[in-house]
Amino acid sequence: MPLIVKRGEVPKTPHTEFYGRKNILSLEEIHGTYGFSGAFSRKMHLRRYPTVQTESPKLLPLSLTSPLLQNAPLSPYHLLTGKIPYQETFECSRHCLLKGLTASISVSKPLLSSPENEFFRNAERHECLFVQEGNGILASEYGELKFKERQYLVIPKGTTYQFRLSTKRAFFLIIESLYPIRFAPHYLNSDGQATLMSPVIETEIGIPDFKEPLDISGKFNILSKHNDGQVTKIVLGHHPFDLIGWEGALYPFSFDSSDHHSIAREIHTAPPVRQTFQAGNAPHSGFSICTFRAQIEGWNPKDVPAPYAHYNVDSDEMMFFSNTTYEARKGIVEPGSITFHPAGLPHSPHGDAAKKSFSSRGKLSNYLAVMLDTFFESLQPTKEALKYHDPQYPLSWARAQI
Ligand SMILES: [Fe+2]
Repeated sequence: MPLIVKRGEVPKTPHTEFYGRKNILSLEEIHGTYGFSGAFSRKMHLRRYPTVQTESPKLLPLSLTSPLLQNAPLSPYHLLTGKIPYQETFECSRHCLLKGLTASISVSKPLLSSPENEFFRNAERHECLFVQEGNGILASEYGELKFKERQYLVIPKGTTYQFRLSTKRAFFLIIESLYPIRFAPHYLNSDGQATLMSPVIETEIGIPDFKEPLDISGKFNILSKHNDGQVTKIVLGHHPFDLIGWEGALYPFSFDSSDHHSIAREIHTAPPVRQTFQAGNAPHSGFSICTFRAQIEGWNPKDVPAPYAHYNVDSDEMMFFSNTTYEARKGIVEPGSITFHPAGLPHSPHGDAAKKSFSSRGKLSNYLAVMLDTFFESLQPTKEALKYHDPQYPLSWARAQI
């Protein structure tokens, strides 16, 4: 994140004697990326290090991944995530659908808030959540971050958090990344500000409201995801939300999809203008996340607003449809549908979508979809994904021709 934020109390000079409370030496922790060289935050704990475990770590009989499909043909997939059941808590209801070396896609549809003394920590991947349904609070050691539908929540690897739902249920698309997820560097000037041509503006992010440290003893369970979806229970004897203050550039934040300020041109615009975030060294590795939202379609009198068939040979494409008004897939997708088009196949709009799209020239669209394009990385469907796959999807273009 380009914004360096300070909340609560921290010593002006790092790693110097500091007393957040009278006669209690505050204890410093660096939550960092890329070793000691990437974005980090400096956290000041009230009185205890975050290392003070009071029980031996225990591997739980819970897996947050799914085996990959083996010997499957090269095929496009349509995953009807609307059919995934709502279940339990955020962490226990994760369904892993697509996996690659550095990226994965899951869906979680919780019915319950996190138990009061239970927390989740993704110790192996950064996360970007898209809130399809529900609202509430993402509480972490950094404070309380309100969220609502159609927002992104970007949560750094290693953050300790819990969900407090204000609604009876919620629905999250979860994008996980080995590398930090951030605004694209080409949107930023050399001083780290979003440029005046950028579709995203860093000051529109939501930052956690800082809360006073919880100086509480007891039993606090942190469910830590590691080693490809295994979960270990870490038990602390003190509340993990015990910061006197923090400062830095690594923290959870929200970003409203409607704050992606679309860029249009006279003729069709390709997805890179819709890019919101990226991970890794895109377009050489990692992935980009694009937001397809309301924008003026091309106004050239002969523009074809529907996209062209495209064969991006270095990118696997996952598209999550928040609504169903995207002309190129009308009649095919449902709210919550995921289409997955691997790099080895071209894909296109269906049937006469190109001709039908003439009527939308120069008009404001109202679709909402989240797209992830990998760069030089294959995603594979999991066995879990197969439960929700429409087996007729590969033939849907032929059916649409009739
Ligand atoms: Fe595409």
